Amino acid sequence: MYVIQVASECAPVIKAGGLGDVVYGLSRELAAQGHCVEVILPMYDCMRYDHIWGLHEAYANLWVPWDGGRVHCSVFCGWVHSQLCFFIRPHSFQDYFDRGCYYGCDDDQMRFAFFSKAALEFLQQANKKPEIIHCHDWQTGLLPVMLYEMYKFHGMDHPRVCYTVHNFKHQGITGANVLRETGLNNEPYYFQYDKLQDNFNPFAINMMKAGIVYSNHVNTVSPHHAWEARYTPISCGLGHTLEVNQGKFGGVLNGINYNFWNPETDTYMPEPYSAKDMTGKAAAKRALRDRLNLEHNDERPLVAFIGRLDDQKGVHLVHHSIYYTLHRGGQYVLLGSATESGINDYFHHEKSYLSDNPNCHLELGFNEELSHLIYAAADMIVVPSNYEPCGLTQVIGLKYGAVPVVRGVGGLVNTVFDWDYDQDKPQEERNGFLFYQSDPAALESAMCRAFDLYYENPTLFAKLQKQGMECDYSWKKPAEQYTGIYEYIKA
Ligand code: ADP
Ligand code: GLC
Repeated sequence: MYVIQVASECAPVIKAGGLGDVVYGLSRELAAQGHCVEVILPMYDCMRYDHIWGLHEAYANLWVPWDGGRVHCSVFCGWVHSQLCFFIRPHSFQDYFDRGCYYGCDDDQMRFAFFSKAALEFLQQANKKPEIIHCHDWQTGLLPVMLYEMYKFHGMDHPRVCYTVHNFKHQGITGANVLRETGLNNEPYYFQYDKLQDNFNPFAINMMKAGIVYSNHVNTVSPHHAWEARYTPISCGLGHTLEVNQGKFGGVLNGINYNFWNPETDTYMPEPYSAKDMTGKAAAKRALRDRLNLEHNDERPLVAFIGRLDDQKGVHLVHHSIYYTLHRGGQYVLLGSATESGINDYFHHEKSYLSDNPNCHLELGFNEELSHLIYAAADMIVVPSNYEPCGLTQVIGLKYGAVPVVRGVGGLVNTVFDWDYDQDKPQEERNGFLFYQSDPAALESAMCRAFDLYYENPTLFAKLQKQGMECDYSWKKPAEQYTGIYEYIKA
């Protein structure tokens, strides 16, 4: 099948979080399973050009109708590993993607509406005829609306749209001006409850809701989060929209790409290792301790947190996990970046407060290479999220022998099975520790069990690590599920 992914991220070129990993990993696996896959992305000034091979201008004259006029764009093309990607670059007055960042600008909704329109224009002007367009998150939510309302692909050639919601918190809520600039001019028509009108604010449109309403299939990134989205307030006002569209809504658990995340082949670590021979993990620990000036003491378990420092990630519990680790004689490494200034200030303060502590290091910023070394060195990885549509850090942690200690929400429930208490899984399929309440006592109860096992029964702890490393969270099965969805909506 001919599948086009349209997204705002694709790792390792453009990555702010898990969305980038998913677009990359899913595309590569779909291609491995025999599909023809191409990815359309914005061409940001700050993306990692060093990860693109053979970048060249493939289409010099893409004219995108916009705001009553036309915007001149180029489309560049290159390979990210073996994945063919197209990058849309507007010229003239539109400096939309030359901002030194991916997100966080006041006109984000306008920028990504433009990108969605440009992606459709590109398909049409380059005479591409995908069978499936797979859109991701609010940034591409208007694409299926424009496809349906403005672009004429006839008969069997009409592409079907699969829309994946990675995070209900960010919905792209904006004003009528965005619609007007795209050319979706009939405001009274779109400002209806069963169309694009935001469920809370009748004077706003909701780009994620648009994607849900106008796509042929909608999913979120784990079965449990799909349930939460339907039956709890976690879908941030979209619960009723999901209910109305329940016939086309589900959950597909993310995978990870084991070519990229694999301690047997990872070039960011000093020595490879596997579940059969873990000596390379000790080398990674030494390298990390050297690099971060941590005490060299193999008695101490190394606990890590890697992620966005955002309310979603349970920052109050992240903070608590640092002090609990130090209290239990462990070492703690945090790698995280915050966009919210209060959280950012808080962690900078914490970093300077702990700067003399030889058992703790807080690294604030985004660092792909360092993240690999931390996963490899860690004995435990903490994921105390308030909510988590899927979560990848626990799955990556598993592959590197870092035992996950997670809160039982969203995809964490579908990937981590409690060593002591999971009655549904035989002991040899359990892989971590869970807690449920979002409070320090609950977190401590799970971390306490992990520390006790580490100190009191190292053999069993090592067995638990190995069981985690042997779990299969590759993209194979999820890509087959997406293929099933593509085939269904195509038919
Ligand atoms: P989310 O998409 O909500 O941020 P996920 O757990 O799905 O969370 O994915 C996070 C991805 O981003 C993982 O690949 C993780 O290793 C990576 N990551 C998060 N923060 C950082 C950081 N500060 N530096 C490097 N990689 C990071
Ligand atoms: C989102 C979610 C995260 C998920 C990722 C990839 O950013 O917060 O839970 O793993 O997307 O789907």
